[in-house]
Amino acid sequence: MFRLNIEFLGHSCFLIQADSHIVLTDPFLTGNPSAATKPEDVRPTHILVSHAHDDHMGDAKAIAKANGATVYSTFDICQSFQEEGIAIEGGNIGGKLPADFGSVKLVPAIHSSGLPGGIACGFVIEIAGKKIYFAGDTALFVDMALLAGENIDIAMLPIGDYFTMGPGDAAEAVKLIKPQHVIPMHYNTFPPIAQDPQKFKKLVESKSDARVTVLQPGDEASF
Ligand code: NI
Ligand code: MN
Repeated sequence: MFRLNIEFLGHSCFLIQADSHIVLTDPFLTGNPSAATKPEDVRPTHILVSHAHDDHMGDAKAIAKANGATVYSTFDICQSFQEEGIAIEGGNIGGKLPADFGSVKLVPAIHSSGLPGGIACGFVIEIAGKKIYFAGDTALFVDMALLAGENIDIAMLPIGDYFTMGPGDAAEAVKLIKPQHVIPMHYNTFPPIAQDPQKFKKLVESKSDARVTVLQPGDEASF
Protein backbone atom coordinates (compact mmCIF):
# COMPACT_ATOMS: atom_id res chain seq x y z
CA MET A 1 0.00 0.00 0.00
CA PHE A 2 1.33 3.42 -0.94
CA ARG A 3 1.95 6.00 1.70
CA LEU A 4 -0.45 8.91 1.69
CA ASN A 5 1.08 12.37 1.87
CA ILE A 6 -1.01 15.48 2.46
CA GLU A 7 0.35 18.98 1.95
CA PHE A 8 -1.70 22.02 3.01
CA LEU A 9 -1.41 24.90 0.54
CA GLY A 10 -3.71 27.28 2.46
CA HIS A 11 -7.48 27.88 2.83
CA SER A 12 -9.16 24.66 1.51
CA CYS A 13 -6.37 23.70 -0.87
CA PHE A 14 -4.57 20.41 -0.23
CA LEU A 15 -2.25 18.29 -2.35
CA ILE A 16 -3.03 14.66 -1.62
CA GLN A 17 -0.34 12.40 -3.00
CA ALA A 18 -0.05 8.62 -3.24
CA ASP A 19 2.42 7.05 -5.65
CA SER A 20 2.04 8.89 -9.00
CA HIS A 21 -1.44 10.22 -8.16
CA ILE A 22 -1.60 13.87 -7.12
CA VAL A 23 -5.04 15.12 -6.13
CA LEU A 24 -5.52 18.86 -5.62
CA THR A 25 -8.55 20.18 -3.72
CA ASP A 26 -10.20 23.59 -4.19
CA PRO A 27 -7.23 25.45 -5.69
CA PHE A 28 -7.21 29.05 -4.46
CA LEU A 29 -3.65 30.34 -4.68
CA THR A 30 -3.84 33.54 -6.76
CA GLY A 31 -5.09 36.30 -4.46
CA ASN A 32 -4.85 34.09 -1.38
CA PRO A 33 -2.71 35.90 1.22
CA SER A 34 -1.95 32.58 2.96
CA ALA A 35 -1.06 30.57 -0.18
CA ALA A 36 2.02 28.37 0.30
CA THR A 37 2.84 28.15 -3.40
CA LYS A 38 2.09 29.54 -6.86
CA PRO A 39 -0.38 27.90 -9.28
CA GLU A 40 2.40 27.22 -11.80
CA ASP A 41 4.31 25.19 -9.21
CA VAL A 42 1.47 22.71 -8.60
CA ARG A 43 1.37 19.62 -10.85
CA PRO A 44 -1.77 17.62 -10.08
CA THR A 45 -3.23 14.69 -12.00
CA HIS A 46 -6.73 15.34 -10.59
CA ILE A 47 -8.48 18.48 -9.28
CA LEU A 48 -11.54 18.39 -7.01
CA VAL A 49 -13.77 21.48 -6.99
CA SER A 50 -16.43 21.58 -4.26
CA HIS A 51 -18.29 24.63 -5.56
CA ALA A 52 -17.83 27.66 -7.79
CA HIS A 53 -16.90 30.38 -5.29
CA ASP A 54 -13.60 32.05 -6.20
CA ASP A 55 -11.89 30.88 -3.01
CA HIS A 56 -12.43 27.25 -4.19
CA MET A 57 -12.48 27.31 -7.98
CA GLY A 58 -10.00 30.20 -8.33
CA ASP A 59 -7.03 28.63 -10.14
CA ALA A 60 -8.70 25.37 -11.16
CA LYS A 61 -8.99 26.08 -14.88
CA ALA A 62 -5.44 27.37 -15.29
CA ILE A 63 -3.93 24.48 -13.31
CA ALA A 64 -6.07 21.88 -15.12
CA LYS A 65 -5.02 23.21 -18.53
CA ALA A 66 -1.33 23.44 -17.62
CA ASN A 67 -1.22 19.84 -16.38
CA GLY A 68 -3.92 18.02 -18.35
CA ALA A 69 -5.54 17.21 -15.00
CA THR A 70 -9.08 15.81 -14.78
CA VAL A 71 -11.58 17.95 -12.86
CA TYR A 72 -14.07 16.28 -10.49
CA SER A 73 -17.12 18.26 -9.46
CA THR A 74 -20.85 18.45 -9.92
CA PHE A 75 -22.10 18.15 -13.49
CA ASP A 76 -23.12 21.83 -13.55
CA ILE A 77 -19.68 23.10 -12.57
CA CYS A 78 -17.93 20.60 -14.84
CA GLN A 79 -19.72 21.95 -17.91
CA SER A 80 -17.76 25.20 -17.84
CA PHE A 81 -14.51 23.20 -17.67
CA GLN A 82 -15.56 20.93 -20.52
CA GLU A 83 -16.32 23.96 -22.72
CA GLU A 84 -12.64 24.86 -22.40
CA GLY A 85 -11.43 21.41 -23.37
CA ILE A 86 -10.59 20.25 -19.84
CA ALA A 87 -11.13 16.56 -18.96
CA ILE A 88 -13.96 16.12 -16.45
CA GLU A 89 -15.79 13.65 -14.24
CA GLY A 90 -19.03 15.49 -13.52
CA GLY A 91 -21.41 13.64 -11.24
CA ASN A 92 -23.96 14.66 -8.70
CA ILE A 93 -24.64 14.27 -4.99
CA GLY A 94 -24.60 10.63 -3.87
CA GLY A 95 -22.64 9.43 -6.88
CA LYS A 96 -19.28 7.65 -6.64
CA LEU A 97 -17.05 8.62 -9.56
CA PRO A 98 -14.25 6.35 -10.78
CA ALA A 99 -10.63 7.44 -10.50
CA ASP A 100 -7.42 5.57 -11.33
CA PHE A 101 -6.33 5.96 -7.68
CA GLY A 102 -9.68 4.74 -6.24
CA SER A 103 -12.86 6.82 -6.27
CA VAL A 104 -14.41 10.18 -5.49
CA LYS A 105 -17.93 10.25 -4.03
CA LEU A 106 -19.90 13.49 -4.11
CA VAL A 107 -21.61 14.09 -0.77
CA PRO A 108 -23.91 16.87 0.48
CA ALA A 109 -22.70 20.18 1.82
CA ILE A 110 -24.94 22.93 3.10
CA HIS A 111 -23.69 26.03 1.34
CA SER A 112 -24.43 28.11 -1.77
CA SER A 113 -22.83 27.03 -5.03
CA GLY A 114 -21.55 30.19 -6.68
CA LEU A 115 -23.32 29.01 -9.85
CA PRO A 116 -27.00 29.70 -10.60
CA GLY A 117 -28.93 26.47 -10.13
CA GLY A 118 -25.84 24.64 -8.92
CA ILE A 119 -25.16 22.98 -5.61
CA ALA A 120 -22.11 22.82 -3.35
CA CYS A 121 -20.70 19.42 -2.42
CA GLY A 122 -18.12 17.63 -0.31
CA PHE A 123 -16.07 14.59 -1.30
CA VAL A 124 -15.27 11.15 0.08
CA ILE A 125 -11.97 10.22 -1.56
CA GLU A 126 -10.70 6.63 -1.58
CA ILE A 127 -6.97 6.62 -2.16
CA ALA A 128 -4.08 4.41 -1.03
CA GLY A 129 -6.40 2.26 1.07
CA LYS A 130 -7.59 5.31 3.04
CA LYS A 131 -10.81 7.31 3.06
CA ILE A 132 -10.70 11.07 3.23
CA TYR A 133 -13.77 13.24 3.80
CA PHE A 134 -13.20 16.70 2.34
CA ALA A 135 -16.20 18.71 3.57
CA GLY A 136 -15.85 21.75 1.29
CA ASP A 137 -17.72 24.74 2.65
CA THR A 138 -20.58 23.58 4.83
CA ALA A 139 -22.68 24.12 7.90
CA LEU A 140 -23.02 21.39 10.51
CA PHE A 141 -25.89 19.06 9.58
CA VAL A 142 -27.08 15.87 11.20
CA ASP A 143 -26.73 13.72 8.05
CA MET A 144 -22.97 13.92 8.57
CA ALA A 145 -23.65 11.01 10.94
CA LEU A 146 -24.06 8.79 7.84
CA LEU A 147 -20.35 9.31 7.16
CA ALA A 148 -19.60 7.28 10.30
CA GLY A 149 -20.56 4.24 8.18
CA GLU A 150 -17.82 5.11 5.69
CA ASN A 151 -15.06 4.63 8.32
CA ILE A 152 -13.35 7.89 7.49
CA ASP A 153 -9.62 7.98 8.19
CA ILE A 154 -9.11 11.70 7.70
CA ALA A 155 -11.75 14.46 7.83
CA MET A 156 -10.87 17.88 6.42
CA LEU A 157 -13.32 20.30 8.02
CA PRO A 158 -13.84 24.06 7.76
CA ILE A 159 -13.58 25.87 11.10
CA GLY A 160 -13.52 29.53 10.03
CA ASP A 161 -17.13 30.40 10.95
CA TYR A 162 -18.93 33.28 9.15
CA PHE A 163 -19.20 31.40 5.80
CA THR A 164 -19.06 27.83 7.19
CA MET A 165 -19.09 25.91 10.46
CA GLY A 166 -17.11 27.49 13.26
CA PRO A 167 -14.89 25.51 15.65
CA GLY A 168 -17.75 24.51 17.99
CA ASP A 169 -19.96 23.14 15.21
CA ALA A 170 -16.96 21.48 13.53
CA ALA A 171 -16.21 19.71 16.84
CA GLU A 172 -19.83 18.47 16.86
CA ALA A 173 -19.34 17.29 13.26
CA VAL A 174 -16.37 15.20 14.40
CA LYS A 175 -18.63 13.47 16.94
CA LEU A 176 -21.05 12.56 14.11
CA ILE A 177 -18.43 11.53 11.51
CA LYS A 178 -16.11 9.64 13.91
CA PRO A 179 -12.94 9.95 11.82
CA GLN A 180 -9.50 8.81 13.02
CA HIS A 181 -7.86 12.12 12.13
CA VAL A 182 -9.08 15.67 11.56
CA ILE A 183 -7.36 18.45 9.61
CA PRO A 184 -8.94 21.92 10.01
CA MET A 185 -9.22 24.22 6.97
CA HIS A 186 -10.88 27.43 5.73
CA TYR A 187 -9.63 29.68 8.55
CA ASN A 188 -7.18 32.59 9.00
CA THR A 189 -7.12 33.40 5.28
CA PHE A 190 -9.05 36.63 5.84
CA PRO A 191 -10.00 38.55 9.03
CA PRO A 192 -13.68 37.37 9.18
CA ILE A 193 -12.55 33.72 9.44
CA ALA A 194 -9.76 34.18 12.01
CA GLN A 195 -9.64 31.17 14.39
CA ASP A 196 -7.19 29.50 16.75
CA PRO A 197 -6.68 25.95 15.40
CA GLN A 198 -4.94 24.86 18.61
CA LYS A 199 -8.10 25.71 20.58
CA PHE A 200 -10.08 23.63 18.06
CA LYS A 201 -7.62 20.75 18.53
CA LYS A 202 -8.07 20.83 22.32
CA LEU A 203 -11.85 20.99 21.98
CA VAL A 204 -12.06 18.03 19.58
CA GLU A 205 -9.59 15.88 21.48
CA SER A 206 -11.50 16.50 24.74
CA LYS A 207 -14.82 15.43 23.14
CA SER A 208 -13.83 12.55 20.83
CA ASP A 209 -11.19 9.94 20.04
CA ALA A 210 -10.14 11.75 16.86
CA ARG A 211 -6.66 13.27 16.66
CA VAL A 212 -6.33 16.74 15.13
CA THR A 213 -3.39 17.57 12.87
CA VAL A 214 -2.96 21.33 12.50
CA LEU A 215 -1.09 22.19 9.31
CA GLN A 216 0.25 25.66 8.52
CA PRO A 217 0.28 26.52 4.81
CA GLY A 218 3.30 24.66 3.37
CA ASP A 219 3.21 21.92 6.04
CA GLU A 220 2.75 18.27 5.14
CA ALA A 221 1.75 15.13 7.02
CA SER A 222 1.85 11.42 6.17
CA PHE A 223 -0.87 8.93 7.02
NI1 NI B 1 -18.03 29.08 -0.55
MN1 MN C 1 -15.15 29.36 0.92
